[in-house]
Amino acid sequence: MSDLRPLGLFDSGVGGLSVWRAVVNRLPHEATVYVADSAYCPYGSRPVNEIKARSAAVTRFLLAHRCKLIVVACNTASAAALEWLRAEFRVPIVGMEPAVKPAAAQTQTGHVGVLATVGTLHGALFQNTTRHYADGVQVHGQVGEGLVEQVEAGHLDTPETEALLRQYLEPMLAAQVDQIALGCTHYPLLLPLIERIVQGRANVIDPAYAVARQVERVLARHNLLALAASNRLSHQFYTTGKTEPLRSLVTAFGGQNFAIQAANLPTA
Ligand code: DGL
Repeated sequence: MSDLRPLGLFDSGVGGLSVWRAVVNRLPHEATVYVADSAYCPYGSRPVNEIKARSAAVTRFLLAHRCKLIVVACNTASAAALEWLRAEFRVPIVGMEPAVKPAAAQTQTGHVGVLATVGTLHGALFQNTTRHYADGVQVHGQVGEGLVEQVEAGHLDTPETEALLRQYLEPMLAAQVDQIALGCTHYPLLLPLIERIVQGRANVIDPAYAVARQVERVLARHNLLALAASNRLSHQFYTTGKTEPLRSLVTAFGGQNFAIQAANLPTA
């Protein structure tokens, strides 16, 4: 049976579009509903209880839009709320975790870098993943202070964004890091700039593709895949904030005939 209900994805803002792009490319028959909680962005510095409350409100909104599976396309919300959301809601939920496992498996130098928000780096998910998969590997965690704000402002390739990235990446590279995991879904939107700075000195890992594969596996396991595209296949975007840079990014990622609407979510 083909299940044509949409996938729901959310992030504190536009960062989750890096995951949306990978999911839509891998599963072209699936309709999607994306929520950018940009009025509350960044989540990174907010208390865990507040991130849980926002994540629950957005999840309820997505369920009201008949979503069959939820992707928490935000590392910070995954760190703060993923297990709790899974206990609260009966829908399958896929989350993010920093790609420490592939980074540790691929390193030749024994040094891997993780660029993420403070909430992610201090979360149990990151600590546990590091303990399980990075035994004997030196993990260099770096908070990407200010980068989420640059992306939300649409400053994907400005001198200010470049200066911040250099400040975070150069010390990692000087420490012999040969794998850099992007542990915040906003950061892959800066990939052209990141690659320009790294200049092949390390492999940069965007976990979006692994998440898209996991979404496919979970859909298949629950018999929820859309086996053929509906002729009403749609991608809907909601935001609690401004429509830019959401509109430009969706357009750049090949989105067509999409509408961006205001998400009617609780304000607390
Ligand atoms: N995209 C979010 C993440 O993956 C951004 C974090 C934030 O809002 O601080 O962590």
